[in-house]
Amino acid sequence: MSRADERTVPSFAKVNLGLEVLGTRSDGYHELRTLFQTVDLRDDITLRPRRQGITIECSHPGVPQDESNLAWRAAESLRRHAKVTRGVAIRIEKRIPVAGGLGGGSSNAAAVLMALNRLWRLDLDPDVLNRLGRRLGADVPYFLVGGTALGLGRGDEVYPLRTQVKAHLVLVDPGRPVSTAAVFSRVDAGLTPRENSYTIFRFVSRDLEGATAFRLLSNDLEQAALEEAPDLARTVGRIRGTLVREGALLAALSGSGSSYFGVFDDPQRARRAHAALASQGFAVHRCRTLSLDQYRKAWARALGYISVRSWR
Ligand code: C5P
Repeated sequence: MSRADERTVPSFAKVNLGLEVLGTRSDGYHELRTLFQTVDLRDDITLRPRRQGITIECSHPGVPQDESNLAWRAAESLRRHAKVTRGVAIRIEKRIPVAGGLGGGSSNAAAVLMALNRLWRLDLDPDVLNRLGRRLGADVPYFLVGGTALGLGRGDEVYPLRTQVKAHLVLVDPGRPVSTAAVFSRVDAGLTPRENSYTIFRFVSRDLEGATAFRLLSNDLEQAALEEAPDLARTVGRIRGTLVREGALLAALSGSGSSYFGVFDDPQRARRAHAALASQGFAVHRCRTLSLDQYRKAWARALGYISVRSWR
């Protein structure tokens, strides 16, 4: 196959602007209320047709390059579901910090589902992709939607919001991966029922208006993540201090960590926070939110002008 057959698609990162853990579920997962937000930090995924079999490569040595990779599993689940006999070579150019609470693996899986659905001309309905996606991971269904969205259930019931958040973000990767499963199991010990906590609902019902609304938001996993990785606590304290000092409207852990982010309405402040954290030696990314509409457009651009013949 020639290189001309290759297609490259975007795979964006997310942050959880807020995350509430409501309780444990009978399936061992946790009942959540979370506010997802896509940012324009992205991996690039290149797909190349193969006669048969799925291969996977990734530019980051810490990412599995075998059948345990979520992107590989996404391709396989689609192949099985649609009884596709052809194969695909997947290459991931990694920029999203690994195991950082930014949804990189889930985003890669959703990107592969959406791209191969198109490239293999399967035309599966969004609800079929959703079903395949939620079997791969709780965050995968969100990445089939993107933008500002409410996540309920395991985080896999996704409701896009009418008003989309528009902001500048500074993401800091403390370079210390934390296990999501370990953080959730620590939450259990200290869990008090949260049915009466309405911070995310209040934020949403204010129509996301005004900088002060961000103060309502927090992440219930933050304390558990810092207990799981006590060596992180001081580092996170420094990161948080810098973000707040530079004027962040919200400074919080994303997902189960360990990435920490600041939300800014003023790009100059975001720039200053980025510079201050970089000068302290942190791996920092400055990015913007992507709305639902921008997310859809990015996908339309990536898949809209395809010579499908080469994929048949
Ligand atoms: O679904 P995913 O594989 O991404 O989740 C990773 C782990 O995080 C799960 O195995 C589970 O321990 C925990 N989790 C949870 N409740 C959720 C989402 C994830 O307990 N709603």
